[in-house]
Amino acid sequence: MERSTQHTATSTSFLSSGSDAVIRIRNLHKSFEETTVLRGVDLDLKKEENLVVLGRSGTGKSVLIKCIVGLITPDKGQIEVLGEDVLNLDAKAMNTLRRKVGFSFQLSALYDSMTIRENLEFPLKRNLGIYDRKELNHRVEQALEEVGLAQAIDQWPADLSGGQKKRIGVARTLILNPEIMLYDEPTAGLDPITSEEINELILEVQKRHGTSSIIITHDLTCARTIANRLIFLHKGQNHFDGSFEELSNTKDPLLRTFLDYYNI
Ligand SMILES: Nc1ncnc2c1ncn2[C@@H]1O[C@H](COP(=O)(O)OP(=O)(O)OP(=O)(O)O)[C@@H](O)[C@H]1O
Ligand SMILES: [Mg+2]
Repeated sequence: MERSTQHTATSTSFLSSGSDAVIRIRNLHKSFEETTVLRGVDLDLKKEENLVVLGRSGTGKSVLIKCIVGLITPDKGQIEVLGEDVLNLDAKAMNTLRRKVGFSFQLSALYDSMTIRENLEFPLKRNLGIYDRKELNHRVEQALEEVGLAQAIDQWPADLSGGQKKRIGVARTLILNPEIMLYDEPTAGLDPITSEEINELILEVQKRHGTSSIIITHDLTCARTIANRLIFLHKGQNHFDGSFEELSNTKDPLLRTFLDYYNI
């Protein structure tokens, strides 16, 4: 690894104090039957940071962030989110924590059989138990305004473009006012101009709400625009941790192959 994150964790000292990290992951391992995916990943997300996670397809990026929200249970390692030891939480505490962590999936994952309004009301009802019509309307309208799609409220997902669906996906995550946002390939499949708009939206959300974000992407233009820091995973391990400038100046052959492809 080019510049390592600190390996200070032990099982007793793991739950941090005085650290400004909102997520701390140490030595994370995960295999699916014969396939070993994560082989000791470390990650720190600092408060109000935009951390980009890069790496080739299949290297375990999505698995990593699914572990953070408890959708996948790792085999070994430690995960601390907002001071909570994720792997040792009971279901109730995990649910409370999940409300603070917004997860925007790799595919925008809107329900096609629901209008945009219904798609946005869904997390409010399920996660916050809000059923009051006025309150629902107010929150849905506000979230749509934030992503510039107030007019889409009564449309169906099938009527929207890919970029608009991504925006709705962001709105659906934002509507719960999370402290941390996890974006899995927010610009995949979008043209460069629409991608740039989504990047700007991510930056706006970060500034306006003071959220801390992990953004998984293959899009280095996106990474350049939004990353305060980047990590590069390779074969389930950390291979690089640093700024975009440090990445673009690297002589590491593996990273060069990746960067040359983008002419960086
Ligand atoms: N639930 C699962 N069951 C079995 N194998 C899985 C599961 N989830 C992921 N994998 C495997 O783990 C590996 C890593 O998958 P992951 O989705 O994390 O890759 P990725 O780095 O996000 O790739 P991409 O850039 O293409 O999205 C793949 O080999 C995948 O098939
Ligand atoms: Mg993925």
